[in-house]
Amino acid sequence: MTHYILALDQGTTSSRAIVFDDAGVAVASCQREFPQHFPQPGWVEHDPLDIWASQLACARAALTDSGVDPARIAAIGIANQRETTLLWDRVTGEPVANAIVWQDRRTAGACDRLREAGRAAMIAELTGLELDAYFSATKLQWLLDHVPGARQRAERGELAFGTVDSYLVYRLCGRHVTDTSNAARTMLFNIHTLAWDDALLALFDIPRAVLPEIVPSSGLVGHAAAEWFGHPIPIAGIAGDQQAATFGQACHRKGMVKNTYGTGCFMLMHAGATPPVSHHRLLSTVGWTLDGRSDYLLEGSVFMGGATVQWLRDGLGIIRQSREVEALSTSVPDSGGVMLVPAFTGLGAPHWDPYARATILGMTRGTTAAHIARAALEAIAYQSADLLTTMQKDAACAVTELRADGGAARNDLLMQFQADLLGIPVVRPRVTETTALGAAWLAGLACGVWESPAALEHQWQVDTCFEPRMPAERRAALMARWARAVAHARSWAEP
Ligand code: G3P
Repeated sequence: MTHYILALDQGTTSSRAIVFDDAGVAVASCQREFPQHFPQPGWVEHDPLDIWASQLACARAALTDSGVDPARIAAIGIANQRETTLLWDRVTGEPVANAIVWQDRRTAGACDRLREAGRAAMIAELTGLELDAYFSATKLQWLLDHVPGARQRAERGELAFGTVDSYLVYRLCGRHVTDTSNAARTMLFNIHTLAWDDALLALFDIPRAVLPEIVPSSGLVGHAAAEWFGHPIPIAGIAGDQQAATFGQACHRKGMVKNTYGTGCFMLMHAGATPPVSHHRLLSTVGWTLDGRSDYLLEGSVFMGGATVQWLRDGLGIIRQSREVEALSTSVPDSGGVMLVPAFTGLGAPHWDPYARATILGMTRGTTAAHIARAALEAIAYQSADLLTTMQKDAACAVTELRADGGAARNDLLMQFQADLLGIPVVRPRVTETTALGAAWLAGLACGVWESPAALEHQWQVDTCFEPRMPAERRAALMARWARAVAHARSWAEP
């Protein structure tokens, strides 16, 4: 009898749900965008109730479309946008404020002060993370300090903090938990001991009473109440979306690398069973905890990937739908010398510059919307190329292929340009929704649908392999020009 898994993929700009069968085939799926709030320059917020409502609606729609009786869903697996910080009332589930999204830069100054106080090295050693506003710790501290009464209520144990996984699990089954891969992104979690760290809690002034319980990424957490899907369903997999995508790309062995082209771009390399140490400002993070073992990853994070295309649509208005970008970009042979550095929310790895701002360079009177669209698409590949170059230095090994996934991985022009810039093949699998697939695999492994990760690897299959075609000199010249463009975007905003 076929088994089914319901995967929830709660991303930055949309919620998604996919029903997979035990062959890893997506039987039905649903996706809904939800509102983004930008209350001040550099601030990004979500209403937690929008997150929950859009995710629940998608899950129900995918289930209905699949025609699968909810009683036959073996488990739910959850993957989520990471770092985004939520604080809610433990009893009612009501959020005390909007969620502060990972892209939000409001705590850049708090990070500067910690850096000046000489805390960056200690933080990096315990958490594997760069001291940056990207992570949850300073966001949670901000909420506790700015939402009236929040700190007192948190100290009395009335409030619960969590990333999006925690909130969804809390809503679905009432437990307050997070898995190791999400905890590793909070900057409050020690990646060596795999526990909340008292020194970090003291540094960021976080009361222990707000923290969720840590659970493995694969394992039974509870049952989604019958009111949500008409039948109780076990929740058995939780992982940050990028770790889930790495798992779903079958990057289960040391040295394997994937890049997810989602809202941002996140390149992760499997680093084995001990935390890697980066000497080039990459992150060392927990991949997943499964069968009592935690795997670690080396990560490069770029903040604006597909979101750059969204900006072409919503900010600039030169396309009406994101998918139009491919046709518009291919209507010109190249970007006509235009370069766009999408530092709209600062720059992530390897620069970590919260004060960088987006810039367009090289425009002439002949520049058209098509050139800008192409430059925007190419910027996604340039930023990812910077990540791979840095990663190869850290890992001291040559990467022989890059596995690509996420919405923009369906764009052939982008994939070919990426292969050209990297000089190695870029491989797109048949299932590009590897984030959801990874969450499904983690859940299915916990409840016996599959026996081991090795039993899943054959489900990962190549769709297209993009071979590099660009001469090495041209590649080097383009990357040098990109480096000049990035230099222009750096430290533009006032600290
Ligand atoms: O760290 C942020 C990341 O988890 C967001 O992922 O898929 O929403 O771009 P995505």
